[in-house]
Amino acid sequence: MTDSTQIDTAWTAFDRAAKGASSARIAALFGKEPGRLETMTLAAAGLTLDLSKQSWTLKAFDACLDLARAAGVETARAALFAGEPINASENRAVLHSALRAAEGASFNAVGEPVSATVEAGRVAMRALAEGVRSGRIRGSSGQAIKAILHIGIGGSDLGPRLVWEALKPMRSRINLRFVSNVDGYDIATALEELEPATTLVVIVSKTFTTQETLANAEVARAWLRAALGPVADSHLVAVSAAPKVAEAFGVPRERVFGFWDWVGGRYSVWSAVGLSCAIGLGPECFEAFLAGAAAMDSHFQDAALERNAPVLLALAQIFNRNGLGRPMRAVVPYAQRLRLLPAFLQQLEMESNGKRVDAQGRPLRRATAPAVFGDVGTNGQHAFFQLLHQGTDVIPVEFIAVAKGEGPAGMQDKLLANVLAQAEALMVGRPEAEVRAELEAKGLEEAQIATLAPQRAFPGDRPSSLILLDKLTPETFGALLALYEHKTFVEGVIWGINSFDQWGVELGKSLALRILSELEGGEALPHDPSTAALIERLKQ
Ligand code: F6P
Repeated sequence: MTDSTQIDTAWTAFDRAAKGASSARIAALFGKEPGRLETMTLAAAGLTLDLSKQSWTLKAFDACLDLARAAGVETARAALFAGEPINASENRAVLHSALRAAEGASFNAVGEPVSATVEAGRVAMRALAEGVRSGRIRGSSGQAIKAILHIGIGGSDLGPRLVWEALKPMRSRINLRFVSNVDGYDIATALEELEPATTLVVIVSKTFTTQETLANAEVARAWLRAALGPVADSHLVAVSAAPKVAEAFGVPRERVFGFWDWVGGRYSVWSAVGLSCAIGLGPECFEAFLAGAAAMDSHFQDAALERNAPVLLALAQIFNRNGLGRPMRAVVPYAQRLRLLPAFLQQLEMESNGKRVDAQGRPLRRATAPAVFGDVGTNGQHAFFQLLHQGTDVIPVEFIAVAKGEGPAGMQDKLLANVLAQAEALMVGRPEAEVRAELEAKGLEEAQIATLAPQRAFPGDRPSSLILLDKLTPETFGALLALYEHKTFVEGVIWGINSFDQWGVELGKSLALRILSELEGGEALPHDPSTAALIERLKQ
């Protein structure tokens, strides 16, 4: 049998198993399937994953694992860690794992050793972070640095922003502000709060060509220069895979931190892209975050597929998407510190796997990345959960919970009670007959009962996963993000996608440049009638 025949056979078995599972109610499966809970629950790198409330039967679970094997997940995983050029359209290795490996690792990117240069980069980051935090490194007028303005967008923003929010001390000596949007309001409000003499501006851009980032960086540089004069550029720091371009912008050479083409933007928070966080959190905390991710890397690399957290999380997604045709997934962290996780995952998953052709350019026959959305629990319960419980679409939910929380006594149990209740309610539902009986007992008329009962019933049988962290520490948080990175990779392998390029963002960028030249008074260019009319209107 050829590989593709093997994959086709595995997909056929998967489809059959999904069809079989679609008639079973999840809640009933616990009684029918001995060992379900144990088989579908596992611990990895300080996290516990419970996938037993997913719609799959044990048979479907096995069919998913067979699909992963047939699709070559194990071989692809080996190629990833070996630094092979698995980002084929750009001929690049994909080595974010090298960035967080313990000292002494020996990763190669397409045969070139990289671990020594990674470690040197980490030493340089540590030196700046410690220098700023201790007051040894000061602003140009001798004042201690009190604030960092982090400028970047996409992968140069979402990861660092999330890390800061997840791990920042309740009272921080460093005021870390993030600016990403090219809407001038964003930088204007950030600068409003800051003093040039005590601020470092950290410009993060892999390419150093991104319009939004350069526009914000220019505003910040002008703000520094207006206040500090010729020494202002010493307040600039850059993180880029194009260090020469950053230097040409005015960033002093010793303040340019490099990274490499084998680090994808959305996988880059482990590199100097996380520099602002290393300064704000302290290098020990940042390095503990890296160590947590490294623990997940080891788990992903070593664990058998059936006990492998990223693999099983990916398979749950594939089962919902391809087996049961569910086009969305909600992610709901019950931890205020993780409120930015859905936004981070939107880029990670949708930019990586939102593709319609395979890595050889052939149209895909299967649906790929679902839309991801979410918000923090319990807030989401009072917003979109109505649809999750009673809407016409079944939307699988991923809950993230933290066993030991922070803050005033008595709140954490309330938070945890809510997450467990939501997962249970989604799965168990509430039959119409039960609602009817309750309304009858209250003495309502039959006509009223007939109207109300269907509205107050819950269909149930709606799947969810739970990822449980014992505590939100730098280590468990690092492991959580690495779990999602590897999950995204496994999905890409099974769908046959190159998860590490993003050609789909290019067209809009180039059209924006054309339209900008017109809005700025340049000659009119050909457009569709709607766009042309809008340009005319905006020029007036
Ligand atoms: O939105 C497209 C994108 O290329 C992302 O992949 C990337 O994370 C972001 O822009 C920012 O790019 P850069 O770090 O080069 O400024």
